[in-house]
Amino acid sequence: MELSGRSALLTGATGGLGRAIAAALAGRGAKLILSARKQEALDALAAELPGEGHRTVVADLGEPGAAERLAAEAGEVDVLVANAGLPGAGLLTDFTPEQVTRVLRVNLEAPMLMARALYPAMLERGSGHLVFVSSLSGKVASPRTSIYNATKFGLRGFAFGLRTDLGPRGVGVSVVSPGFVREAGMFAEAGAKPPPGMGTTTPEKVGEATVKAIERDKVEVVVAPLQLRAMSHFALATPSISVRAQSGAAGQKAAKAVAEGHPEHKR
Ligand SMILES: NC(=O)c1ccc[n+]([C@@H]2O[C@H](COP(=O)([O-])OP(=O)(O)OC[C@H]3O[C@@H](n4cnc5c(N)ncnc54)[C@H](OP(=O)(O)O)[C@@H]3O)[C@@H](O)[C@H]2O)c1
Repeated sequence: MELSGRSALLTGATGGLGRAIAAALAGRGAKLILSARKQEALDALAAELPGEGHRTVVADLGEPGAAERLAAEAGEVDVLVANAGLPGAGLLTDFTPEQVTRVLRVNLEAPMLMARALYPAMLERGSGHLVFVSSLSGKVASPRTSIYNATKFGLRGFAFGLRTDLGPRGVGVSVVSPGFVREAGMFAEAGAKPPPGMGTTTPEKVGEATVKAIERDKVEVVVAPLQLRAMSHFALATPSISVRAQSGAAGQKAAKAVAEGHPEHKR
């Protein structure tokens, strides 16, 4: 799909990756509907993006009904980029049942319900594209990440299944799966280092990958250095080996540092 003149709804627009995705989409001439929870930050972002006609819609996707309301308020949407996410980092028992529900809702249920609300009109128009921002945590499970792993594995499965329904009918569905992102975003904010030798990527590369997914109708674009892409592919194919490796002292130490770096309100 050509992005020029298309309307694109982007959730999590004010976050580290959201800002880079917004810049990449606006740079291709898309008109953005930017969403997150803070009006002021959304307005400032809309004003600094290239192009004209960008709008903002405030939504707390952790609230029941918010995903459907956002889709309705967004109006006609050619492209959805479901990017909003919570780190969901920590042991399962560190979370209250309400916090578990919130992470599941923001990371998995809201993208599903937005897609449900938006794709019938895309099918009627005969074009549209849905992008779901997952993670290499949707391929590799690690300590203190079980809730996040559940949402990101789930989002990949959902998107691939949906693609088999919509692809033959002219609507694209893609997954963008970043590895460790430096400079901005939830991993950088946690202040932890990736495990030795894994390497990092940048928010700008995630923005480029999102554009590539839409323009070339990619099934999945993984945004990470070659060694991490290869390892995650192997880990997905051999969970018995990857789970044993991740359970070791080095994996536990790295995961603890990441989990402890995330602020309490991001549970
Ligand atoms: N950073 C990485 O290393 C990395 C790696 C792989 C995948 N990812 C994925 O990339 C996506 C973006 O992550 P990021 O690193 O940019 O995180 P981030 O900097 O923490 O930004 C998260 C965004 O989601 C929004 N958000 C959080 N809770 C929300 C809620 N309840 N309702 C609506 N919006 C909400 C935040 O805005 P408000 O707080 O204003 O609502 C913010 O715009 C996520 O899906 C994440 O899982 C990130």
